[in-house]
Formats: sequence, C-alpha cells, structure tokens
Amino acid sequence: MAEDLKYAVEMRGVTKRFGDVLANDSISLAVESGSIHAIIGENGAGKSTAMNILYGFYAADSGEILIDGQARSIQNPGDAIRLGLGMVHQHFMLVEPLTVTENIILGSEPGSSFAIDFKQARARVRELSEQYGLRIDADARIEDLSVGQQQRVEILKTLYRGAQILILDEPTAVLTPQEVVEMFAILRSLRDRGKTIIIITHKLAEVLALSDRITVMRDGRVVGNISTREATAEGLARLMVGREVLLRVEKTDAHPKDAILVVNNLSLESSTVHGSLNDVSLEVRAGEILGIAGVEGNGQTELIEIIAGLRPQTRGEILLEGKSIDRLDPRRRKNLGIAHIPEDRHRRGLLLDFDLAANSILGVHRNSPLSGAVLLNEQIIAERANRLVREYDVRPPNIALPARALSGGNQQKLIVAREFDINPKLILVSQPTRGVDIGAIEFIHKKLIELRDAGAAILLVSAELDEILSLSDRVLVMYEGRVVGEVDPRSVSEEEIGLMMTGGKR
Ligand SMILES: Nc1ncnc2c1ncn2[C@@H]1O[C@H](COP(=O)(O)OP(=O)(O)OP(=O)(O)O)[C@@H](O)[C@H]1O
Ligand SMILES: [Mg+2]
Repeated sequence: MAEDLKYAVEMRGVTKRFGDVLANDSISLAVESGSIHAIIGENGAGKSTAMNILYGFYAADSGEILIDGQARSIQNPGDAIRLGLGMVHQHFMLVEPLTVTENIILGSEPGSSFAIDFKQARARVRELSEQYGLRIDADARIEDLSVGQQQRVEILKTLYRGAQILILDEPTAVLTPQEVVEMFAILRSLRDRGKTIIIITHKLAEVLALSDRITVMRDGRVVGNISTREATAEGLARLMVGREVLLRVEKTDAHPKDAILVVNNLSLESSTVHGSLNDVSLEVRAGEILGIAGVEGNGQTELIEIIAGLRPQTRGEILLEGKSIDRLDPRRRKNLGIAHIPEDRHRRGLLLDFDLAANSILGVHRNSPLSGAVLLNEQIIAERANRLVREYDVRPPNIALPARALSGGNQQKLIVAREFDINPKLILVSQPTRGVDIGAIEFIHKKLIELRDAGAAILLVSAELDEILSLSDRVLVMYEGRVVGEVDPRSVSEEEIGLMMTGGKR
C-alpha cells in the first residue's frame, strides 16, 4: 500500500494509434507524488498524446492508468478532474472577452446558480492566487493579460477545480525569460505543498534546473527514465534524437552586401506602451542577420507585422531595395521576396483544417509555376509539398493530413519550409524555434545561416536571448517601442544586454 502511494500517476502499456501512426506504443510511466516529472522527446514523439490520454481527451486503445495506486478509468476530462488531475495545454483554452473569474468557473459547476457561484468563485480565485503567488487579478479580462498571465490563469483554473496533479504541456515555450523564472518559482512552490507536476518541455536547461525525474520518448515509445541528478544535456539530447546534436550554432563571419531593407522613423501610436513603436530606424543588408533583442511586448511583434504588411504604421517608411513598399498588401510584399515566419502559428501561419499540401502554398499560390492560368496545378503543388515535407522532416510525411493532425513542432517546421522555399530576399522571423525540438532547432538554425550566406537579409526576433546572440551578426535592443542601442553579439555580456532590455542604460 505505502509502496503504491509513492506514485501519483502510473501509465502501464498505454497504446494509441491515429490511423497509420502509432502515437503511443505501449508506454509506461511512473510519476512520484510530490515531484516534478519532465517528459521530453522530439516533435511528434507522442508526449502530448500520452498526456491527453491521461487527462481523458483521447481514449487509449489499450493499457492501464493508475492514480494514487488505484486503477482508474478516465473516459473524459470530467473523470480526470474528479480524480484530481488538471491540465494546461500547449495552446490555451481561455475565452478572451471574459474575465479571469468567469473563465475559471466556466463549465466547472454546472447546474448551480451563476450568481451565487460567482461571488464565492471570485473570493476563491483571489485566495488561490495569493496562496501560490500567482498574482492574478480575478476581474481582469483575458484579452488584456500577457501570455504569461494567461498561463497562470490556466494554472489557477486547475487549482480551483481541486487539482493535485498538474500536467503542463510546454508551459515555457511562450514565456519571456523573466516569466520563466516566475513560473519555476510557482511550480516549485506547488510541489513543495505536495502537488505532483508533470511538465513537457523541449528546453533541456529547464529540465535540468527544475525536474526531479525525466522520461524520454522517441517515436511513440519510452526510451529512458532517469533521475535528473544523473542527467546531462548532451546525454538527454542523444537519447531524444538518437544521434549527437549540436547544441550550439556554427557560423562564419557575415559578408554583408547592399541594404535590402531600410526602415526610417517607423512609429505606431497605441493607447499602451506595449504595442507602440517610436521612431524605429534600421537597415538589414544582404547576407546578414540582424537580431532584435528585447523582452517580449516591447514592439518587436508590431515591427515585424508592419514590415510584413499585416498592419499599417502611423508614421515612417519602409523601403525594399530602395523602393517604398508602404502601400503594398502582404501578398504583394511576399511576391517581392519577403518571407515571414509569424510568432503565432495558429492565428497567422496555418489553416488548421486544410491539408499539408494546401498549407504549403498559403500565400505563395499566385506565383507561377505553382499556379496555372486559372487552376492551381495540383500535381506541381503535391510534388513541392512532398519535397518540403521530406527536406524539413515534417512528420508524419503525409500531405493529405490536415495541419491540425500535426504535433506543434511539426506545424512550425511546415511553416518554416514554406517560407524558406520561396528564395526570399528578406526573411522576417519571429520566434523561429518556439516549440520545436532540439534536432529541428539545429536544422532551422543551419538553414538560416545557409540562407544568409546565399545572400538573404534576415531580421530575427526571438525571446530566446541565446538564439539572438548565437545567430545574429548585429543586434539591436528594443525597449518600450524604441531601439535603445546596438551591441556586438560576440562580445556583449548577458548582464549588459539584460540591463538594456529592461530599460537601464549602458
Ligand atoms: N488528433 C490527431 N489526429 C491524427 N494524428 C495525430 C493526432 N494527434 C497526434 N497525432 C500524431 O501522433 C503523433 C504524436 O503526436 P503528439 O502531438 O503526441 O507529439 P508531441 O510529442 O507532443 O510533439 P510536439 O513536441 O511537436 O508537441 C504525431 O505523429 C502526430 O502527428
Ligand atoms: Mg506536443
């Protein structure tokens, strides 16, 4: 009995098939009570599937699940919640126009009177927020919250429903470095109060810093189960990918040529500091990577979206090879050779219900030779889609699948493939490796350097300071919508750039 209670969760021989894909192949997993347990593995390895089965979203084809030592049947999330499980998904599931409290009580207590629930709920939300240091205003509207705050609302929601076991699917993928530090503190405090935490992540440094134990998945199977004390980044990488992985970027010095992109005095007026741009000027030349460092929400997204043509500026001009593109819509900009990897792949990057072939031509479909005079040439499209899927290792390599059926990282690989393949002159890249596994990060980084060396001008925005410093040839720092300085990525210290990113002077 005591032995059994050691584990909050056990999965034994769990198998799940989606069509031809064996997403979970008899996986077994044991999570100690009161521990932080990491699950790692390549994109498509089956991590989310396993957790979705545990949470009752998917039914396993076979296998057994034990909660606190007892075999349980979990048919739906309602069953999971009653057993003390809570899940925060890879993509949040909040209703934007509603408040925090409204979101939290949504669907949690059907049948009772909303008015009575509401007052109690609000008090309870405040209490929980206080208790675990979540710092969430119970009356704030979701749409006014930062991504990090929205995620804390998701955590609050699970706690409100009495979760003892929390499952977090890539919780830090969308957080700024500061938010990650806060999130870790929250997770540790949850663990120290007896909660059990299962966390899926691609970031090996985080796994090593946070978890007590690690399960490694590959191709639907569990291939390792290690105490974090005995793990190293290199060892984990090898176990995940099945080969040595370069955990750093290798590149030669840039040889920049003519200016491709010139931005003069770009401004965007906004009611908030976050979301405004103030007199931003910059230049990106052929054959160089210009990185923009900054805490997320300091104008980087707006800058990239304005250059891509997705929103208009208030003032200032944008020149591509000396010609103004200010009046061109996104498609015409794309036709001039501007590629864009958007940060929000669901909103901007993919049509989730369309197949991979259709998604691989999004935005490029007016270009010959991909279109005939009237009809799209299906065979050419299919050939190209198949080639992209092969070259970029999108799994599973079946272009007839809807984009929705791909794992998060594989969706990102598909967007990268589509955008890089148009031979862009200028590449606008936001968070290119968010949610992708270390093997794919290595590949995308190599590809960016290759495109640079072939003469592309690259403007890179990333919340990962490491990524900015290792890929960029020059780095601008943005703070509150302004460029506050330029640094040399080869010599700048983390302290120095960190200070600039938070508004301090050099
Ligand atoms: N609803 C679905 N329909 C069809 N196939 C699916 C579905 N969900 C997952 N799959 C497939 O199952 C496999 C495992 O996917 P899963 O989402 O579990 O991977 P993951 O390890 O979470 O990857 P990532 O790190 O990219 O999020 C993949 O091949 C994926 O394409
Ligand atoms: Mg996943």
